[in-house]
Amino acid sequence: MADPRAKVRTRHFQQAKESGIRITGLTSYDVQTAEIFDQAGIDFLLVGDSAGNVVLGYESTVPVTVDELIPLTRAVAHAVRRAFVIADLPFGTYELGPDQALTTAFRFMKETGSHAVKLEGGRRSARQIERIVSAGIPVMAHIGFTPQSEHRLGGHRVQGRGADAEELIADAQAVEDAGAFAVVLEMVPSGVAKQVTELLSIPTIGVGAGPHVDGQLMVWTDFAGLTAGRIPKFVKRYADLRATLTDAVEAFREDVAEGRYPSAEHEYTD
Ligand code: KIV
Repeated sequence: MADPRAKVRTRHFQQAKESGIRITGLTSYDVQTAEIFDQAGIDFLLVGDSAGNVVLGYESTVPVTVDELIPLTRAVAHAVRRAFVIADLPFGTYELGPDQALTTAFRFMKETGSHAVKLEGGRRSARQIERIVSAGIPVMAHIGFTPQSEHRLGGHRVQGRGADAEELIADAQAVEDAGAFAVVLEMVPSGVAKQVTELLSIPTIGVGAGPHVDGQLMVWTDFAGLTAGRIPKFVKRYADLRATLTDAVEAFREDVAEGRYPSAEHEYTD
């Protein structure tokens, strides 16, 4: 985005789209990573309900609660100087209707210091988006593969292929019409993501949606190589933190066992 020091606002997302500047986002769930990502110039931090898998050890995002996400979101919001912080609304906290959605959004905005909220769903969530936005809270929408619906979608599957492209495009148009300031496209074929990006006037943020979008978002533990086991095809690993940390832990354990740590330089003198 234009000024690397200016606090990111929703208008900067719009300006980025209009001037062809790509937007960057990472998830974050704690102070340390939020500080690092913010200082490195990442435009927005999403305190995603992926915290359910990454931090809390759940099998999916389905069990995550507002009470679990609030302290994580507060930590991230308090750590940043420039980045735009987005709170993810957990499953079951907005689907009942606009009133429930607004009540949940109020909690995040008042209790965490985040700058916006994100929720999943296209046409089915349009009324919720409209209500939250009309109360003065920016909303990032999320369509394509929506992890909170993984059981209905039959697992982690690419969305919007073939005839389903029309459905995805209708969802994208609906969230823009409802007032979302940006929309996440998760696990969508590149060609369809390109079509959506050209159609919409709000920025599209890809998570496995190819290069023809206005910005890219990744779960930080995936991109930094901390996640164990299989990671999605769209993830590029920029580091191998799991190996680095494992080496450090083993060195510490061996040093302690062999009496090499602590040495004189780590001791307090009388
Ligand atoms: O919770 C999350 O991390 C997300 C992104 C992957 C879009 O919703």
